[in-house]
Amino acid sequence: PDRYVVIGNPIAHSKSPEIHARFAAQTGQRLVYDRLLAPVDGFSQAVRDFIREGGKGANVTVPFKLDAHALATELTPRAKAAGAVNTLKFDADAILGDNTDGVGMVTDIVTNAGVAMRGKRVLLLGAGGAARGVILPILDEQPSELVIANRTESKAAELASLFAGHGDIAASNFEMLQGQFDIVINATSASLADDLPPIPASTIGAFAYDMMYGKEPTVFMHFASTHGAAVRDGLGMLVEQAAEAFFVWRGVRPDTAPVYAELRAAL
Ligand code: ATR
Repeated sequence: PDRYVVIGNPIAHSKSPEIHARFAAQTGQRLVYDRLLAPVDGFSQAVRDFIREGGKGANVTVPFKLDAHALATELTPRAKAAGAVNTLKFDADAILGDNTDGVGMVTDIVTNAGVAMRGKRVLLLGAGGAARGVILPILDEQPSELVIANRTESKAAELASLFAGHGDIAASNFEMLQGQFDIVINATSASLADDLPPIPASTIGAFAYDMMYGKEPTVFMHFASTHGAAVRDGLGMLVEQAAEAFFVWRGVRPDTAPVYAELRAAL
């Protein structure tokens, strides 16, 4: 069977092998998918060794998404826009770099949660790698406006100018945000530290999304639901980015709903 891995450091916690094993069983695809721990300074060697052993593709996680972007010999437009790669496909001598994180999040919001972005005011909190990865897929949905707000405002301004040609996009700090947003997305890593970006409660509209997930709602989800929003965590994004990678490799779209339900039950 064809071989795939998820490469990271650390990697033991990764749920990707379980997700892809379920996708493979469901679609009748013969493949094996393992975890690969690479040394922090040994990403490209680990990939080259895996290719030599016949590997067909890899998912890439912390801290290697920029290394994967640099290693790829070809990049999809969404990987170029993200400036980072989470999916590699090996084909003869070519290393195709893709990024399925952004489309995974948008699918989770638009299709799974049923919240359309077209014509809506969207607020994206954060300006790191996680935020950058979702900007182009959000703009592809044609929101009326996308505001990027960050603790360090200059980083939000850099991202806004980078994507200025792709839609109506603006930058802000947290404190100066004006008006209500239909969709507020937390792409900061604040939730990891049980911290809340200090945005005005008046920004919270109908729907809020946190890219983090866990057994309990994050502080951001608690804040947003207190102010009347429907909330959702990032577990569905994890499953959808995997499904998109599976499609890139195998040309088949798995059914994500049962896999999401199993992962949710096991949290
Ligand atoms: P990631 O890959 O998760 O995006 P990153 O590139 O280090 O990680 O970016 C982290 C993001 O979370 C940044 O936008 C950071 O804000 P700064 O640019 O001002 O550092 C944001 N962040 C981290 N901790 C935060 C906190 N406690 N409150 C608000 N924003 C926070």
